[in-house]
Amino acid sequence: MKRRAIFFSSIAAAMLVFMAAAVAGAERENKTSSLGALWSSAKEEGDDLGGPPTTVQEEEERHLDGGFSTLEGMLQWSIGHSDPEKLKEAALDIERLSSQDLKQRQELMDKLKTPSDAELMKIAINDLNNLSISLDDRHRALQELLILVEPIDNANELHKLGGLTAVIKDLNHSNPDIRTISAWILGTASQNNLFVQNQILELGTLAKLMEIAHSDFIEEAIKALYAISALIRNNPEGQQLFYKEAGDLMLQKILSNSSIDIRLHRKSVFLLADLVDCQLQSRSDTQLPFSSNHILLKSVVDLTASADLDLQEKALYAVKSLLMLRSTDALVFKDICELDLVLGRMKQQLLQLILDDQYKEYALDVENLRKEVELIFHRKLEKGKPTFTQQLGLTALQ
Ligand SMILES: *[C@@H]1O[C@H](CO)[C@@H](O)[C@H](O)[C@H]1NC(C)=O
Ligand SMILES: *[C@@H]1O[C@H](CO)[C@@H](O)[C@H](O)[C@H]1NC(C)=O
Ligand SMILES: *[C@@H]1O[C@H](CO)[C@@H](O)[C@H](O)[C@H]1NC(C)=O
Ligand SMILES: *[C@@H]1O[C@H](CO)[C@@H](O)[C@H](O)[C@H]1NC(C)=O
Repeated sequence: MKRRAIFFSSIAAAMLVFMAAAVAGAERENKTSSLGALWSSAKEEGDDLGGPPTTVQEEEERHLDGGFSTLEGMLQWSIGHSDPEKLKEAALDIERLSSQDLKQRQELMDKLKTPSDAELMKIAINDLNNLSISLDDRHRALQELLILVEPIDNANELHKLGGLTAVIKDLNHSNPDIRTISAWILGTASQNNLFVQNQILELGTLAKLMEIAHSDFIEEAIKALYAISALIRNNPEGQQLFYKEAGDLMLQKILSNSSIDIRLHRKSVFLLADLVDCQLQSRSDTQLPFSSNHILLKSVVDLTASADLDLQEKALYAVKSLLMLRSTDALVFKDICELDLVLGRMKQQLLQLILDDQYKEYALDVENLRKEVELIFHRKLEKGKPTFTQQLGLTALQ
């Protein structure tokens, strides 16, 4: 809040100087356009600093600080309160300015320039490291960082500026909103960015995020899961670490809990499918812990019966990928997950849905996917049989 008040008052001072100069140079320059340019560039900057939606309360606080709630308001005020004679006088004064004064004015103008993203990140990180900062200010600093780390170049700078350490520390904060936004920042910074993914993984943050994913504060759990996915996506080492930290149990716990928020189910199913696809693409023979986790497999199959169409489709897709893993056993899908029954019921439901114009297109798509899953499942069952009898044969020989 202090920072912003100072920012606005420095604009106000500069604006008055600038207006006086504009009057002086009225013959040479187009006054409206130069003022207009400053106005709009300052406004842009103000918006940037404002970050996420400003609350009514914040607006009020700004007034209490003696600042202006908007730059337009301030401009109107300064124009309304300016005496044309005085402005002209000021203009003459400016013409007489010594070079020292001019330099000062230049410095003032330089300050008005949009601070670089790195500078803004430094300010926010400095605030995070300040233990006497208020909860509101901490929240605001985190929100600013959340926006700042979106561009990949900024994300790459974050650790160098001490940002990762500061944000990771806030995963431990007693306030769930602070923890939520901290997890969100880590996810945003590491999204599609191997460099930042590895930096965060090396700081040992994955286990903490996996713990937070079980939080009773749903928003926090969702953002933690988002961060976990962003952190290990297309990152084989990250995925190994995830398995080592019992990632399959984390997913099992979420997927098998029928009373949990559906967004957590969606995110978990998506993560699971992504991990399995990654394994399929790598053609690696290492066995994923999912393959033998029957509770997890059954939970995913059960979610294909979800009333939420999006979740239903995601779960069906995950089942398809799981079936394609060489290490999963078709008999587990048949006997434990009762996939035949589930697919049969789903077929009936989709045939009904196809009759409804609103859902027809979706239902046709999912029915195609369902048929594909059925085919893969039955082929896998066929393939499984000889191995099974061979095993029986071997046992008999021993
Ligand atoms: C001054 O700038 C304004 C806005 O760009 C423009 O509409 C106007 O024609 C300009 N006037 C002169 C005298 O150049
Ligand atoms: C820390 O925050 C307090 C309260 O906002 C402020 O007075 C102090 O100057 C800050 N310290 C640093 C080092 O920024
Ligand atoms: C978070 O808290 C735990 C337990 O109190 C502690 O072991 C850990 O070092 C803390 N992590 C950070 C980053 O402060
Ligand atoms: C299932 O989720 C609910 C809601 O988040 C939670 O309160 C409950 O403890 C969870 N149950 C288990 C067995 O984890």
